[in-house]
Amino acid sequence: MTQQQTPVMIDHQDGDEPLSNHSDNTTFQQVFEKRMSRRSLMKGSLGTAAMLGFFAGTGYSGMAHAGSNRHSPLIGFEAIPVDASDRVTLPKGYVHQVILPWGEPISGNLPAFDPLSNSGEDQAHQVGSHHDGMHFFPIEGQDPYQGSSEDGLLVMNHEYVEPRFMHASAQGQALSRSAVPVKADGTRNADEVLKELHGHGISIVRMKKQADGQWAIEADPRNRRVHGLTEMEISGPVRGTDFVKTRFSPEGTRTRGTLNNCAHGVTPWNTYLAAEENWAGYFINHAEQPREQSRYGVAKEGSGRYGWELADSGDDRFVRFDVTPKADSATEDYRNEVNGFGWMVEIDPFNPDVRPVKRTALGRFAHEGVVFQPAVEGQPVVCYSGDDARFEYIYKYVSAQPYFKATAGGHLLDNGTLYVARFNEDGSGEWLPLVFGMGPLTPENGFNSQADVLVNTRSAADAVGATKMDRPEWGAVDPKTREVYFTLTNNSRRTEADAANPRVENNWGQIIRWREQDDQVTAKTFEWNLFVLAGPESDSDLAGQHLDGGNIFNSPDGLWFDADARLWIQTDMSESVVNTGPWEQFGNNAMLAADPVNNVIRRFLVGPIGQEITGVVTTPDQKTMFINVQHPGATTTPEQFAAGELFGHWPHDGAIYPRSATVVIRREDGGVIGS
Ligand code: FEO
Ligand code: CA
Ligand code: CA
Repeated sequence: MTQQQTPVMIDHQDGDEPLSNHSDNTTFQQVFEKRMSRRSLMKGSLGTAAMLGFFAGTGYSGMAHAGSNRHSPLIGFEAIPVDASDRVTLPKGYVHQVILPWGEPISGNLPAFDPLSNSGEDQAHQVGSHHDGMHFFPIEGQDPYQGSSEDGLLVMNHEYVEPRFMHASAQGQALSRSAVPVKADGTRNADEVLKELHGHGISIVRMKKQADGQWAIEADPRNRRVHGLTEMEISGPVRGTDFVKTRFSPEGTRTRGTLNNCAHGVTPWNTYLAAEENWAGYFINHAEQPREQSRYGVAKEGSGRYGWELADSGDDRFVRFDVTPKADSATEDYRNEVNGFGWMVEIDPFNPDVRPVKRTALGRFAHEGVVFQPAVEGQPVVCYSGDDARFEYIYKYVSAQPYFKATAGGHLLDNGTLYVARFNEDGSGEWLPLVFGMGPLTPENGFNSQADVLVNTRSAADAVGATKMDRPEWGAVDPKTREVYFTLTNNSRRTEADAANPRVENNWGQIIRWREQDDQVTAKTFEWNLFVLAGPESDSDLAGQHLDGGNIFNSPDGLWFDADARLWIQTDMSESVVNTGPWEQFGNNAMLAADPVNNVIRRFLVGPIGQEITGVVTTPDQKTMFINVQHPGATTTPEQFAAGELFGHWPHDGAIYPRSATVVIRREDGGVIGS
C-alpha cells in the first residue's frame, strides 16, 4: 500500500473550494438602475449599518473596541476567551455531553465501532463521518417550535470522510487527511471504497433525554443511514431528460447516493433537505468536459477525490465515478452520472419507506444548505441557497404553487422560479430569474430548455450578471423580521472589492443581510447591508466598532437563528491555516451568539484541535442545544500520522483516532441556552 501517486484531492477543508467561475461578470462595473430611493434604503433597522459597505478601504480608523460587553437583552452569558487546547469550552454554568460519534451503531445488528476491523457493510449501520448540518425533529413532528424537547429524531449530514482514520491498511503510512491508501497495482480495495461511500450521507437517530439529564439513543425502526449508495428519485424539470440518463437509470429518473452533504434545510412541511456541496471532485472525466462538468470542477487528471472508480471489484456502483464516455450511448455508460449530483435532497425522517428525492428546481451548484422563510397560508414557499465557492452566487427559489398546510409537500419544490442575486453598490439588490427563454437564457446563448438552465445553473447565473460573492455559506432567516442573513466565509483570491465583498484578499469573511422589498418575500428587489466584517481587532467592523477579545472571529460558516432571534455563528478557519500566523490569535474554531438588533456578538463555545464547529439546533424549549464538531485532529500531519503521534484526539473516548461527534449543551440551572 502506498499513498495514492496522483491524488486529485480537491480539498474543501484546506480552504480551497474549487475555483471554477471563469465568467467575466464584474461585480459592480455595471451599476444597475436604482430601483429604490435612498430614503427607503436607510429606513428601518438596516439604517445605520447600511452605510457599512461604503466604509470599505478606509482602514476603519478611529473606531472604538467594543461589541462583546455591550448590553443585550438576548445574551446573558459571559464571553469566553479564545482557546487552542484539545477540548470543548463553554461559558460558566454550561455543561456538555458528547453523543453520536462517527461509527456509533444505530441500525441493523448494531455493529460495534472498531475503525480497523469494521467492514463497509458495518458502516451502513453506524453514524457517518464528518458531522455537519443538523436538525432536531420532535418525535411527534409537525412544528419545530413545538413538540417534545426530550424525544426526537436527530438528523445530521456527514460531509466527507478521512480515509486514514478508516482503514487498517492506512496505519503507518504518511497519509494526509485527504489521501487514500492505494494498492501496489494502482487499484483500491473495494470494501474500503464501500466503507467510504457509506461514511457519507445522513444519519437519522432517535435521541431521548434520560432521567439523569443525559441523552441516549432510543431503538426505533426509523433509525437509519442514507448514504452514498442509497437509491434516490430525481424530480422537477430535470427528471427524465437526457441530462440524467445513465446505465443505472436509462429513463433518467433515479440515481444512487448523495455526497458531500454540508448544511441542510428544514421544509415548512417538516422534512429534511441535505445539500450536496463539493461533489464535483468525486468524479473524473479524462475526455473533453461539457460545461456541466467543467464549470463545476470535475477532475480531469489522476483520479476522483477518493479514487472510488479504481475499486478492484470493478463494481458498477464504484466505476460510475469515472464519467469519461465509454460506450456508444449515454444509457450504456456513466457519462451523465455527475448530473445526478449538485442538488438539494429531500428526506422524510419519519418515513423510511419514502425514497429520498433530488429536487432539481432548486438548481445545481455547490449547495451549502437551504433556508426557508416561514410559510404563510396561501403564499408561495420561498427559500435561499448559497453556492460555496469563490466568486459564486446566492440564489432564491419561489414556488409556483401557494403553500397550504393541509396539502404542503415536496411538490412545492418541483415547480417554481429560481433567481440569483445581484447586490448593487447603493444597497439595493435584485433577484434575476433563471428561466429558459428569458433574457439571455435562449438557444442563441446555448440554453435549450429549463432542464439545461438548471443543470448549468452556474452558467445561467453568469449569463444574467449575478454578483460574485466571497464564498456564500449558510443562510438564516430572522423569525421576527424575516431579514435574511448569509455568511460569506472568505476569499483570499479577491483582487477587486465591491460593496458587498468590500475587502480584497479577504481572509476573514463577512455576514451580509437583506430585507425583501416591502417585506414581501416574493419580491424581486431587496435592500441589503453588511452586519459584520469578521477579522482581528485591527480589521473588523460591527456597527462602526472593531470586534474585541470577547468576539473576534473569522471565516463564518454555520449560521442559525433560534426562536428568540438569537443568531448563532460558527467558524471554519481552514486546517491549512488555523493556529498559524495571523490566525493564531483566533485559537480553535468556535461558535458565537449575536444579538443583531443591538450589535452584540459574544463567544460562546470553542472547539478542540483541528476541527470546525458546524450544525446547530435546539429543542423547542431551547433548553438543550446540539452542535457538531467536525474533523477533530485533522491538522495531524502525514508524518505525525505515520508515527502514530496524533495532533488532537478529541473526544478522548478511548478510540485510537479522533472522531467527529455531536455535542449536547445544557445549562446547569436548566435555562434557555444563550440567555
Ligand atoms: Fe461544507 Fe462550505 O462548508
Ligand atoms: Ca460549511
Ligand atoms: Ca466551510
